[in-house]
Amino acid sequence: MSAPTDAQRMEKIVSLCKRRGFIFQSSEIYGGLNGAWDYGPLGVELKRNLKNYWWRVMVHERDDVIGMDGAILTHPEVLKASGHVEGFSDPMIDCRTCKAHLRADQLVEKKGVKQCPNCGGKDLTEARQFNLMFETHVGAAAEESSIAYLRPETAQSIFVQFKNILEVSRKKLPFGIAQIGKAFRNEINPRNFTFRSREFEQMELEYFCRAEEGMKWLDYWLEERLKFYENIGIPRERLHAREVPDDERAFYSKGTYDIEYDFPFGFQELEGVAYRTDYDLLQHQKASGKSLEYFDDETKQRFIPHVVEPSAGVDRTILAVICDAYAEDQAPNDKGEMESRIVLRFHPRIAPIKCAVFPLLKNKESLVAKAKEIVDLLRPHMFVFYDESGAIGRRYRRQDEIGTPFCVTVDFETLGERDPALRETVTLRDRDSMKQERVAIRELVNLLISRIH
Ligand code: GAP
Repeated sequence: MSAPTDAQRMEKIVSLCKRRGFIFQSSEIYGGLNGAWDYGPLGVELKRNLKNYWWRVMVHERDDVIGMDGAILTHPEVLKASGHVEGFSDPMIDCRTCKAHLRADQLVEKKGVKQCPNCGGKDLTEARQFNLMFETHVGAAAEESSIAYLRPETAQSIFVQFKNILEVSRKKLPFGIAQIGKAFRNEINPRNFTFRSREFEQMELEYFCRAEEGMKWLDYWLEERLKFYENIGIPRERLHAREVPDDERAFYSKGTYDIEYDFPFGFQELEGVAYRTDYDLLQHQKASGKSLEYFDDETKQRFIPHVVEPSAGVDRTILAVICDAYAEDQAPNDKGEMESRIVLRFHPRIAPIKCAVFPLLKNKESLVAKAKEIVDLLRPHMFVFYDESGAIGRRYRRQDEIGTPFCVTVDFETLGERDPALRETVTLRDRDSMKQERVAIRELVNLLISRIH
């Protein structure tokens, strides 16, 4: 079999996501809503596992980070102070031939002439700024005073609640506030599956520190975040930390890295790690008239802390994880003949289903009862799946395709019918090596937990 091209690989991934219930187009039966996606039964598990792991390492396993969960509806003054109302826009160009709205950086250039990437048309409008925020009205009256915005990033509610959280947590610098939640941007041209959506989730940390330590924490968080991706199964060689040059950086940032992943459609940003200085807190202090200063007990000084922000996209990370996990290889069928198989090699830590449990035969009551007993044994510790239909080889194949790292089979040995020494043991099959080992049921929980976490 020849290696698929990147575009073919992407097509296969999108089709697998739909076929196996990871990701569906939103409002599909009504023709779809561009830039919005629904996660199906397996997608929601994958997403939860990712978010839970981020929360675990960024909040629970640290003394210096606490969490919050802010509202999506945002007061317009917040986004005026942050600069979003004035400047959160992309340059937009229309193609007069096919009427497409395009981001200026999406035009293709042939022989020095800019063209529409859809129809090749050269009759293009001048670029104009298009604000990406979704505006809505709060309350019954639609006059100006009731305008609100759907937040374009989770970060702003962290800055706005900085003082409250500082007071209740009594943290000392350096410390961080973490948040996971939805953000909305009216992207001009959503594309590359879920990569650029209009509704998406972010996992953001605002890490407050003293001005003189900003660059140190920027380097620290870049390294921590690269490690995070490795710990969810994305190897370092498929990641790239791009130092954003001065002319591309926000004017208030003293240093920014983009962590990029090698998607089938090219290296693209997964996360930004930015040293935002004291810009945001200063802006909100000025606009609200409320002090957002930190009081240092030891030096008795009051000052506005600086902030370093690792800001990751949930949906983009999920897409990277799926792209990285997708593989086609050869596996034996029930007759021992080699067949091609599709396998998602998720890290067990984030795999939607951790373990599938099969009775060898579905019409043998004692095998079925034992398999269900094992499901009950594992269920308090992990998400398990019971399957009794079809030949064992086909059951393995179905689990390979959705990335289940372990399968347990209950057979006649388990019942002690063949060899009494094997009573109360099962076969444990590994998705990647396809090797099977014999494991005592009483050791199963600990063994699986040690391989998952
Ligand atoms: N608070 C900083 C901030 O929002 P950003 O680089 O605009 O920075 C951070 O966004 C991350 O959010 C991106 O690296 C990406 O993973 C995700 N993200 C941004 N826009 C997105 C979109 N339209 N669709 C999916 N994810 C997006």
